[in-house]
Amino acid sequence: MNRQDLLKLTDKYQSPLYVYDTEKIISQYKKITTAFSKIKNVKINYAVKALSNINILKVFNKLNSGLDTVSIQEVKLGLLAGFEPHEIIYTPNGVSLQEIEEVAKLGVQINIDNLSILELFGQKHPKIPVCIRINPHVMAGGNSKISVGHIDSKFGISIHQVPHIKRVVENTGMHINGMHMHTGSDILDIDTFIRATEILFDTARQFKDIDFIDFGSGFKVPYKKDDISTDINELGKKLSTRFNEFCKNYGREVTLMFEPGKFLVSEAGYFLAKVNVIKQTTSTVFAGIDSGLNHLIRPMFYNSYHYIENLSNPKGRERFYSIVGYICENDTFGSNRRISEISEDDILCFHNSGAYCFSMASNYNSRYKPAEVMIYKGKDYLIRKRETMEDLLKNQESITL
Ligand SMILES: Cc1ncc(COP(=O)(O)O)c(C=O)c1O
Repeated sequence: MNRQDLLKLTDKYQSPLYVYDTEKIISQYKKITTAFSKIKNVKINYAVKALSNINILKVFNKLNSGLDTVSIQEVKLGLLAGFEPHEIIYTPNGVSLQEIEEVAKLGVQINIDNLSILELFGQKHPKIPVCIRINPHVMAGGNSKISVGHIDSKFGISIHQVPHIKRVVENTGMHINGMHMHTGSDILDIDTFIRATEILFDTARQFKDIDFIDFGSGFKVPYKKDDISTDINELGKKLSTRFNEFCKNYGREVTLMFEPGKFLVSEAGYFLAKVNVIKQTTSTVFAGIDSGLNHLIRPMFYNSYHYIENLSNPKGRERFYSIVGYICENDTFGSNRRISEISEDDILCFHNSGAYCFSMASNYNSRYKPAEVMIYKGKDYLIRKRETMEDLLKNQESITL
C-alpha cells in the first residue's frame, strides 16, 4: 500500500489504526496453492489466531480456504463467517475434554495432542474420526517461544508413543483419519520442513485409514529488505514429489494440508501510530507514539522486528531513534532505527502488522484497542470500531461501597 493512502486512512479513522490489504492476502494464498498444484488434493486452513476479525475470515471463505482453530470461540467465529464445520480443524492444547466434545458436536474435525484425552474421547465417542497431532522432536522455529515441535514442548504426542496411540485405537475402536504436526513459526530453512515431514510420513504409514496429512505451518516471511523467507516454490517442488510418492505407496490419494497464519496475513497488515513526543536523553532520542505494547506486543514478547517508516516525512534527513510506547513498562518497538527525521504528530507505519498483532492486543493501562480497517477491491471498510469508555466498563459490575 502506498504512503499517501495510508496517511489518508489515518486522517479518516485517526490513530492508532490497523490497516489490512486483502489483495496481499489473496496473492499470498495463491502463492501457496500454486506451489502445491502438483498434488491432487490440497487444503489450506488459515490459522485464525493470527488475525481473527470476522471480515478477514470471510475473505478466506471466499478463497475456498479452510480454517485452523485452537479454541471453541475461534470455531464459532469461523461458523459465523460462513465456513461449514467440515472445513474447520480444531487443534487445542491443554483444553478440557468438555470443550473438545462441544466442538465435536458442531461437526468440526478434531485434532488431539494428548494420549489421556485421546483415550477418554475414544471411549465416549468411538464413531467420531480424530486426527492426531504428533511431536516429531524437531527443533524448528525463529525463537524459543515459537518452537513447539521439540522434546521439551507441551505440544503433540511423541512419535515414540505411537505404540500407545495404536493400543488406544484398538481398545476403543476409534478411527484415526489424519496426522498432524506443527513444529514452529518462522522456520529458517526448507530442510527442517523436509526432515519433519519424513517423520510424519513414517508415522502416518502406521495407520490404515488416513484421509489427510497436515504439515502445520512455520513459513517464514521477510521482515526487512533482503531478509530470508521460505522459498515456497522450492518447498512445493520437494514436498510434492515426496507427498505423491507417499500416496502411491499408501495406496490412496490423501489430502495435503497446511495451516499458515503469518504467511497469509503478516505482510498485509500496517499499524499506524502518531508521534506524541520527541525526547532527547543522555543516550538516545526517543520518539514516543500514541500506542504501546498493549496494541503491538511482538517486539517486547518475541524480540520481533517490525520495519518502521515515517510516513509524514519520507524524504527527510535520516536520524537515529528509539521508538517507544506510552505504557508504564519499557515498551520499545525498535532501538537505534535510522528513520527520516521525526517530529511530533508525524505518522509512523509499522510493517508486517497483520499476524499476531491486533489478535494479541489488550486493554493494559486501560487503553482502548485500536480500530481496524480492511481494504477490499480498492475500498476501505471500518471492520472494528475503536473502543470507548463504555467498552472498558461493559463487563464490570459496579458495587456500592
Ligand atoms: C498449531 C498451529 N498451526 C499453525 C500456526 C500458524 O503458524 P504461522 O503463523 O507461523 O504460520 C500455529 C502458530 O502458532 C500453530 O500453533
